[in-house]
Amino acid sequence: MLVAPSILSADFGNLQKDIEMINNSKADMIHIDIMDGVFVPNISIGFPVVKSVAAVAKKPLDVHLMIVNPEKYISRFKEIGATWLNVHYEACTHLNRVVHEIHEAGMKAAVTLNPSTPVSVLEEILPELDMVLLMTVNPGFGGQKFIESSIAKVKKLRNLINLTASKAIIEVDGGVTLETGKRLAQAGVDVLVSGNTIFKSEDPIKTIGQLKEL
Ligand code: DX5
Ligand code: ZN
Repeated sequence: MLVAPSILSADFGNLQKDIEMINNSKADMIHIDIMDGVFVPNISIGFPVVKSVAAVAKKPLDVHLMIVNPEKYISRFKEIGATWLNVHYEACTHLNRVVHEIHEAGMKAAVTLNPSTPVSVLEEILPELDMVLLMTVNPGFGGQKFIESSIAKVKKLRNLINLTASKAIIEVDGGVTLETGKRLAQAGVDVLVSGNTIFKSEDPIKTIGQLKEL
């Protein structure tokens, strides 16, 4: 299992400390949530913070764009250090073009689905993707309750990936705990994003290690 701590739940007053904790852990990537107050009802962080994280991070950055018009900022995110760029299906009218532009910029392309968006909408684009991110809560906030129907959705996506001979890996985001994480692992998930479970833990490095073992 790959694990991506979501720094939305980190201490923004001392972000360097939390990035160094992730560097010293078994985490595989650092998940960074970008929210614009339009696509989702919350505003998080922007370019200067991502750049500062990149300067300290020893793990690849997995940038999750919860913004409208994500195509406007593809090259900016490459310049400041993103390895993975996640764009929402619901935010892209010309998704094929956006995916190509992410690859041309030299990043790995991931498409994210809101909980109510069926996996079937990805049928045509799947062979072009490096990763699919299934939201397992409604995007916008950390610490929300896991949506149970996500387990069946992961299985459906796994079938569609096989059917389309796609090499995309499956990531999930929202409400991931050791309990929901175990069931998601059994359903076929490759990457667990986790905010609260890691950062509210008494021993975040140990919790990351436990998620890795699921
Ligand atoms: C929610 C964000 C998540 C968030 C997950 O919109 O995309 O990455 O940080 O937080 P938890 O793991 O606490 O649900
Ligand atoms: Zn996220």
